[in-house]
Amino acid sequence: DKKGLWSGRFTEATDAFVAQFTASEHYDRRLYREDIRGSRAHARMLADVGVLTQADAEQIIEGLNAIEQEIEAGQFPWDPALEDVHMNIEARLTERIGEAGKRLHTGRSRNDQIATDIRLWLRAATDETVALLRHFQKGLVDLAEQEADTIMPGFTHLQVAQPVSFGHHMLAWYEMLVRDEGRFIDARQRMNQMPLGSAALAGTTFPIDRQQTCAELGFDHPTRNSLDAVSDRDFAIEFTSAAALTMTHLSRMAEELVLWASPMFGFIELPDRFCTGSSIMPQKKNPDVAELVRGKSARVQGALHTLLTLMKGQPLAYNRDNQEDKEPLFDAADALRDSLRAFADMIPAMSVNRDHTRNAAKAGFATATDLADYLVRRGVAFRDAHAIVGQAVALGVTQQCDLADLSLETLQRFSDAIEQDVFEVLTLEGSVAARNHFGGTAPAQVRSQVAAARDRLAND
Ligand code: ARG
Repeated sequence: DKKGLWSGRFTEATDAFVAQFTASEHYDRRLYREDIRGSRAHARMLADVGVLTQADAEQIIEGLNAIEQEIEAGQFPWDPALEDVHMNIEARLTERIGEAGKRLHTGRSRNDQIATDIRLWLRAATDETVALLRHFQKGLVDLAEQEADTIMPGFTHLQVAQPVSFGHHMLAWYEMLVRDEGRFIDARQRMNQMPLGSAALAGTTFPIDRQQTCAELGFDHPTRNSLDAVSDRDFAIEFTSAAALTMTHLSRMAEELVLWASPMFGFIELPDRFCTGSSIMPQKKNPDVAELVRGKSARVQGALHTLLTLMKGQPLAYNRDNQEDKEPLFDAADALRDSLRAFADMIPAMSVNRDHTRNAAKAGFATATDLADYLVRRGVAFRDAHAIVGQAVALGVTQQCDLADLSLETLQRFSDAIEQDVFEVLTLEGSVAARNHFGGTAPAQVRSQVAAARDRLAND
């Protein structure tokens, strides 16, 4: 009877449906590497403190190594009747090496085992996320440099507001990703503490050496409270929260990409290899990758809500509810990784249609604020200047032309402070170049931010 791992006190076999209902092996098998790694460290430590013989520990470690290969080769006999990844591996170990296998679980529980496994897994996922974020950041910085002098309309309310450098817009995306990276690095610190040794909830009567397993598994230090260590999944919530926020950023980028790729905007051309066609409309080239990233942000936000709700009603210490943490966590990590990978490849490879972006800025009276500022420099109060320029814009709207296309005489009808040099501030390039302070959109500022970003990416 395979339920032999815990069924000593039971007088009837588990209901078949309940066995299926409680099983998690089909998804937590994904933790096999971390589970085996933790078991190896535990066995070695038990032998070093004299709870196991060195011979037993060696057999266990060799057996675990063989099982790892078996799993990797796709030859492991996964059995849902054994519930989860932990009991599948432990049962297989005993099947392979006999007695010694039965001693592995000394001073340990699946509760501290799973809490350790997820942390190990999530730590690697966090490191991978940070690496992907940085790769993406590099791509954006390169594109920002390439398009530092490209004029595009900056928007508020999706209405043309003021001209900006396309490179400045790419660096806005970069800044979002820098903060995202910081959140993952911050979450990692609290995640990287070792629950092993907490056993079921209260610790163990064996003279375990938690510093040893901690060092072997690369944790910063052992958790300080066994009840807390086996029960809280706040570290998974923090990761998913950072993931949800990152996906929110990617979703905003996705929305812009979809708009920009539309012929109505025509700002960018996405590489064919990142687009798909239509089964009926032969002319279509659709930005599906961007749309899917926008869509996947929904499931990551859903995962965050699932985990928060999962946790909120749980009394100390471990409850089986926690088994439900894995699917949303895995799903969120997968969606995040794939979305980052897609955007990091696609966005730096898009081409910018500089004429279109410039014309769009020109068509929208984007330099109206510059004209108002010009009047202010000539002694007009800003509120009056605002009203004067508003009247000039109204004329431009009826005559269907930009402010720069109105003649000097026409402009002077609105204010006698206007002179020939007004046309210098009415150009798009002049407008952008004039915002030449730290954080502004002037190409010179974009270039200096590019240099600072490269420095940061090379150094830390
Ligand atoms: N599979 C469980 C989880 O994911 C760990 C097993 C703990 N089981 C138990 N009966 N205490 O959290």
